[in-house]
Amino acid sequence: MTDNLVEDYLEKEHENSLSSSRLDPLEVGELIEICFPLNSFKNIKNRFKLFKDLWSLKLDYNEISGSIDLRQLISQQYDSISPENIFVTAGPQEAISISLDSILSSEDHVIYQEPIYGSLYEIPTDIGCKLSKISPKENQWDIELEDITESIEDNTKLIILNSPNNPTGHVHTEEFYEKLIEIAKKKGIYILVDEVHRGLLYNDNKSTKSIMDYDYEKVISISGLSKTMALPGIRIGWIASKDDNFLKNCYAKKQITSYSNSTLDSYFTELALEHRETILKKNKTIVQENLEHFRIFAEKYNQLFEYTPPDGGNVGFVKINVEEGAEKFCEKFLDETKILIEHSKLYKFGNEHIRIGFGRKNFPALLQKLDKYIEKNYI
Ligand SMILES: Cc1ncc(COP(=O)(O)O)c(C=O)c1O
Repeated sequence: MTDNLVEDYLEKEHENSLSSSRLDPLEVGELIEICFPLNSFKNIKNRFKLFKDLWSLKLDYNEISGSIDLRQLISQQYDSISPENIFVTAGPQEAISISLDSILSSEDHVIYQEPIYGSLYEIPTDIGCKLSKISPKENQWDIELEDITESIEDNTKLIILNSPNNPTGHVHTEEFYEKLIEIAKKKGIYILVDEVHRGLLYNDNKSTKSIMDYDYEKVISISGLSKTMALPGIRIGWIASKDDNFLKNCYAKKQITSYSNSTLDSYFTELALEHRETILKKNKTIVQENLEHFRIFAEKYNQLFEYTPPDGGNVGFVKINVEEGAEKFCEKFLDETKILIEHSKLYKFGNEHIRIGFGRKNFPALLQKLDKYIEKNYI
């Protein structure tokens, strides 16, 4: 069984969180408002059409791989792939499970970067794989290609990365990917990158180029609408891959998991993806304002916090210099203020970091409470 530390911790409540990896989820009306604002006759007609389409939408099973229209729209997020390279799942989590179950067996060795989203190493552990983790440079979060090369064994099947990373917000450079692919190609090793937080980028030296758009067959990308698109309740995710055999295995796994994806969710996914740029622009403004609030806060308390701003996504990992360690700090803060902050033990990454989520509208108000708490207890 996987130990879902973060999920267990979250279950304890928590409306007020300074760590959420989500933006405030959009309401259906807000989504329609973004897609068809009432500023033209054409959009009034579009709203009527939407209502008419929904009225006659047949609530049948969907195609197992996802409808061709949806896969077409998804493939447009990449430069070099077609709808046949896309496999639609019931949310990103199912995309992770199906991919890893399709590719790995207990005989395989897996290399992954740490810290990383939990199920990316928990599922290979459950399958019985041998795992090697690659640790980052302190607080910069880059990993060394040399460390990866040194970890490769005869039975290394897969390298797992997460970019933009949850929890650090780090994005791998194009140069890193090019060199990594050279290494992987020599040994025929697959590379899977969880790109669920792709779409929002703040560091001009990094790029949003997907792992799918490099010259290598054995790459897999995982994505969905839950994070940067602020639509986690639309349970649609996807796997992108150029490897037909792997996609056939995914098809077989899907038949014995959720079989096909919700027709209603697929409909709203198409609507959202047709207006992806508008949604991302709106969300980027929210995150950037919160990043600025946090920059000022971290500068004010630079004795306590060591902070590398995220390159992309909605979250960042911050080192906190307190004697009692990050876990105790978060527990005491939660007790006194009822505000959740996640500590790095939940990510199996020591006891010195906290995860900050920059996507919520109540972020400035909650940060002010943290500011008061620090002033009262640590200054
Ligand atoms: C990096 C990453 N991948 C996958 C997921 C799973 O997304 P979902 O829970 O929407 O299926 C998450 C959720 O937090 C995530 O942060």
